[in-house]
Amino acid sequence: MNASSISMKGGGYYSQNTQGAKHVIDRAGENLMAKFSELRLPAGKRPFSIVDYGAADGGTSLDLVSQIVHEIRQQSLEQEITVTYTDLPHNDFSSLFRMINAESDGSATYAQAYSNVFVSGVGTSFYQQLVASASVDIGFSATAMHWLSALPGTITDHVHAVGAVGDEWQTFRNFALHDWETILLHRAKELAPGAILVMANFCIDEEGQYLGNTGGANMFDTFNLLWRDLAEAGVITETEYQATAFPQFYKTKDEFCAPLTDPASPVSRSGLCLEQAYTGLTKCPYRAEFEREGDPAAFADAYVPTLRSWSETVFMNGLDKSRPIDERRQIVDEFYQNYNTLVRKAPEHHAMDYVHTYMVVTKARD
Ligand SMILES: C[S@@+](CC[C@H](N)C(=O)[O-])C[C@H]1O[C@@H](n2cnc3c(N)ncnc32)[C@H](O)[C@@H]1O
Repeated sequence: MNASSISMKGGGYYSQNTQGAKHVIDRAGENLMAKFSELRLPAGKRPFSIVDYGAADGGTSLDLVSQIVHEIRQQSLEQEITVTYTDLPHNDFSSLFRMINAESDGSATYAQAYSNVFVSGVGTSFYQQLVASASVDIGFSATAMHWLSALPGTITDHVHAVGAVGDEWQTFRNFALHDWETILLHRAKELAPGAILVMANFCIDEEGQYLGNTGGANMFDTFNLLWRDLAEAGVITETEYQATAFPQFYKTKDEFCAPLTDPASPVSRSGLCLEQAYTGLTKCPYRAEFEREGDPAAFADAYVPTLRSWSETVFMNGLDKSRPIDERRQIVDEFYQNYNTLVRKAPEHHAMDYVHTYMVVTKARD
């Protein structure tokens, strides 16, 4: 599978259904704002440039971008600011621009509230250089860089690399480490001297925890089980089961840091310096709501859509293209309906806690 064909569900669905992602961005934003005083404004030489890599519909980072723009305006009323949202070509940029222009509820965003702020989108993968060299002052990315540039191989008995073993796992890992170096080298070119790059990426933490695997049912095992059930029931074919895998890999904090801490690596030599790295868990807000309200059906109806918002295209893409699109949609609907049923039956087993490595990286001044 070409990884450029994955996408978040559009129409504003993504940010409406991913409250956890917003919490992660707010947390990463604290790291960013703590470093903000070290930044120098370009002072008329060029615009101050903020780039959000893998922005989806832009809703989850809206508060953070507003905060950055506000801080710049405290220092300068005239400083021109560009905000560039990047994502894959088929991302729902239309929803993104409606979000930034506040068409959903009419309240003003930073784009209306402040003058001399210029918003644009780039529909190109972050595995390429996306903006001009040495032009970015703040680079930011949340919950996006676990998506690989392509699917490295097959996974015989699972749908995710967390369930891969032996050579299959090693193939994913090698590919992911190479991808990570590619991401960093492109950012190294884009960042201006003294710029800050803040990232929050899904990871496997020191206790072996990762997204949806922090106790209780393992979310990726559940995906696999339910997809396997559909194969066993003859709803999907064995070939379709085998063709389905997330083009993702969760690295450890050490794997994230390695290219930045080895002074001889191309990444270190490109001028990127690691300032901070730590892992953090963000509790699943849907599970927290269930613990407050105790309503299994309401939990399942809120929780499964958040899983669906980012996983649906993987299962759609696994299905044979010769099936009419409506049939593919029906199968995927059934799959998430089965997940919903499982959650309703035993809600206490389900949660999608987020596990991230938070990193602050700077670009050396010349
Ligand atoms: C889970 S969403 C995160 C959105 C937002 N940053 C947040 O934290 O809420 C992941 C986003 O990364 C994007 N993405 C995945 N691979 C990408 C790539 N190679 N280049 C750019 N964006 C990518 C996806 O299309 C998706 O919009």
